[in-house]
Amino acid sequence: MANLRISLAVVLFQAVLYRSSDALWCNCTTAECEKTGSLCETDGACMASTSVFEGQEQHIRTCLNQDKLVPPGQPFYCRGAEGYVNTHCCYTDFCNSIDLKVPTGTTSPGHDGGYGPGGTWGLIQLVAVVAGPLFLLCLLLLLGMFLYQYHQRAYNHRQRLEVEDPSCDHLYLAKDRTLQDLIYDLSTSGSGSGLPLFVQRTVARTIVLQEIIGKGRFGEVWRGRWRGGDVAVKIFSSREERSWFREAEIYQTIMLRHENILGFIAADNKDNGTWTQLWLVSDYHEHGSLCDSLHRYSVTTEGMIKLALSAASGLAHLHMEILGTQGKPGIAHRDLKSKNILVKKNCTCAIADLGLAVRHDSATDTIDIAPNQRVGTKRYMAPEVLDETINTRHFDSFKCADIYALGLVYWEIARRFNSGGVHEEYQLPYFDLVPSDPSIEEMRKVVCDQKLRPNIANWWQSYEALRVMGKIMRECWYANGAARLTALRVKKTLSQLSVQEDIKV
Ligand SMILES: Nc1ncnc2c1ncn2[C@@H]1O[C@H](COP(=O)(O)OP(=O)(O)OP(=O)(O)O)[C@@H](O)[C@H]1O
Ligand SMILES: [Mg+2]
Repeated sequence: MANLRISLAVVLFQAVLYRSSDALWCNCTTAECEKTGSLCETDGACMASTSVFEGQEQHIRTCLNQDKLVPPGQPFYCRGAEGYVNTHCCYTDFCNSIDLKVPTGTTSPGHDGGYGPGGTWGLIQLVAVVAGPLFLLCLLLLLGMFLYQYHQRAYNHRQRLEVEDPSCDHLYLAKDRTLQDLIYDLSTSGSGSGLPLFVQRTVARTIVLQEIIGKGRFGEVWRGRWRGGDVAVKIFSSREERSWFREAEIYQTIMLRHENILGFIAADNKDNGTWTQLWLVSDYHEHGSLCDSLHRYSVTTEGMIKLALSAASGLAHLHMEILGTQGKPGIAHRDLKSKNILVKKNCTCAIADLGLAVRHDSATDTIDIAPNQRVGTKRYMAPEVLDETINTRHFDSFKCADIYALGLVYWEIARRFNSGGVHEEYQLPYFDLVPSDPSIEEMRKVVCDQKLRPNIANWWQSYEALRVMGKIMRECWYANGAARLTALRVKKTLSQLSVQEDIKV
């Protein structure tokens, strides 16, 4: 301690002794100053700096000459570096004899193999540094997955809505749209096979039934109301599910819609807990069936031709195969009769009850269901159906059987022809030859064995329209199915007749 005091006094003495004007004496710890007693003289500044290098504190005191004090005011050498070096420059003698604090924060690497304040980051900090970003990355990934799944679920939900939720129906069923609008859209949209199923269901479930209008083999027919308009609802009993399904299927055959085929609207199967209600909704025609209508009214020449021609048009469309992607297969009705033809407001016909129909696949020359030989109404069965000689593998056979039945319907119409107030009462075909509910055997005897047909009265020859009708009937009734007229031929003949008679159809 005494030595230190002596050396300091010597230093001070030397400093005062050798001092030049403007010179500044500073403490100096560098190697060059060993000779000068840890002193240095400068025209610039005294500098002290403290740093940590490889875990060791280092204290440096020295002189900085004027040429090193650049840039002026903020010399590089006088700047510290936060966390690395604490530096102090001053301009009075020995002003750098101070102890600067060890810098805080990140120092040079190496201390304890770690980082951090004073180079002493621990394992926890290291783990935090590595795991933190990893954790954040995982969090982002999870968030991404969650958002993706949410989006997928929302998308699937939307898809399902579009298929079955009636809440989407507004797209089709805007409040001010009538059935006619809907059907018009259908016929112009090119879908050609009917309303989407969920719209059918919604329409069916918002119908209010009004009154029963008929009963058939498969169930009841009701008049219903939908948006201020009438619709017909055929309600099948649960055990007739197959008939319901088949009829709905046939009605939805692509491109079937035609002015002379009953306009199909909807099919719906509604389970009320105890049983399933099977509905088939179609256009309603207030005149009812042709049979009902002929019971009530006689027909003029115009009425007869219109009914006959429109029925032929409907049947020709049904029978016809239309080729192409938007085409339709040939369809045979197999239960054509006056009860299954409806009379529209404009006194033309709409063919209905397609539940027994068969479709032809021309590519494979097959029929879309295995046809049982004898279906339909016995009274209207063609001779080859009655005696079971019909070739069921040949689609045209079914069309020929339809033509036979069309001839019988024409006979029912023609009988009601009103010539100057004189007309015959309504009768079913073969009314005079078989009982009211004839058996197959009874029909077969009359039609196949005795080869009898409904009577074409001689006086029919006196009226051109009746004469033509009589001729068509005969040509529809040939025992040989292949010899019969086609629906298209009948249509053409009646078209010519309507021109001849100056009738607008
Ligand atoms: N769309 C409709 N518009 C108006 N009346 C209809 C309509 N559909 C059917 N009807 C009436 O309901 C009656 C019953 O029809 P349905 O088809 O159930 O039996 P059917 O034709 O009399 O006998 P079948 O069971 O042998 O076909 C018809 O005769 C007709 O009077
Ligand atoms: Mg019917």
